[in-house]
Amino acid sequence: MQHGSGVLDDASAGVAVRDARREDLPQLLAIYNHWVLTSPATFDLEPLASEAWERWFESHRDPGRPVLVADGRGSGDAGGGLLGGAWLSAWRVRPGFAHTAESSIYLHPDAREQGVGRMLYAALIERARSLALHTLIAVITPPNPGSTALHRGLGYERVGLTREVGWKFERWHDSEIWQLILDREPRPGEREAGR
Ligand SMILES: CC(C)(COP(=O)(O)OP(=O)(O)OC[C@H]1O[C@@H](n2cnc3c(N)ncnc32)[C@H](O)[C@@H]1OP(=O)(O)O)[C@@H](O)C(=O)NCCC(=O)NCCS
Repeated sequence: MQHGSGVLDDASAGVAVRDARREDLPQLLAIYNHWVLTSPATFDLEPLASEAWERWFESHRDPGRPVLVADGRGSGDAGGGLLGGAWLSAWRVRPGFAHTAESSIYLHPDAREQGVGRMLYAALIERARSLALHTLIAVITPPNPGSTALHRGLGYERVGLTREVGWKFERWHDSEIWQLILDREPRPGEREAGR
């Protein structure tokens, strides 16, 4: 696997991880909307329209809010094309939370359990490190064994549970909060403050 110019490329798997481009949006939206319709992994309740997805992409133009995609380059069980996307969003909007981001990932259903999620999410974490973010938060609706294994395998820890915060498919869902601290080095001021 090579690492250069922000792109991870696993030639053996025929999958490249790269920044999303505008022309990826229809395939990425189809993947996301599949999970909107079938899973409480997202609490969007209705498929998003392309205009809303364009606005979402615009809100990720900031380099601090990257959207990465796994590009199958015409091969694989998912029929080639886009295998999935992963992105960073604001965790909370107040300025003091600027060193924290929320990480998200959604794959084409046929691209699962082949290592694509791990490859894509590892690249997102690397990007977060290069952005000097301090910590990533992921929100998992249990049970989600694939997502749980992915996050645990990449070093996230389950740090919290909020009960019955989401309503979808005619029932309440809990949310688990998972966290990865990216840099254990103290930030300016922390050492002096004895933290
Ligand atoms: C969650 C998701 C991104 C995982 O991606 P993936 O490509 O299937 O995962 P990988 O093949 O890279 O596997 C990563 C790890 O999870 C494990 N895993 C994957 N699917 C699993 C499953 N269904 N049950 C148990 N373990 C699973 C793998 O064995 C691997 O473990 P390891 O690191 O110990 O080897 C993918 O299943 C997905 O898009 N799901 C639907 C959307 C979703 O739930 N997104 C997450 C929202 S929080």
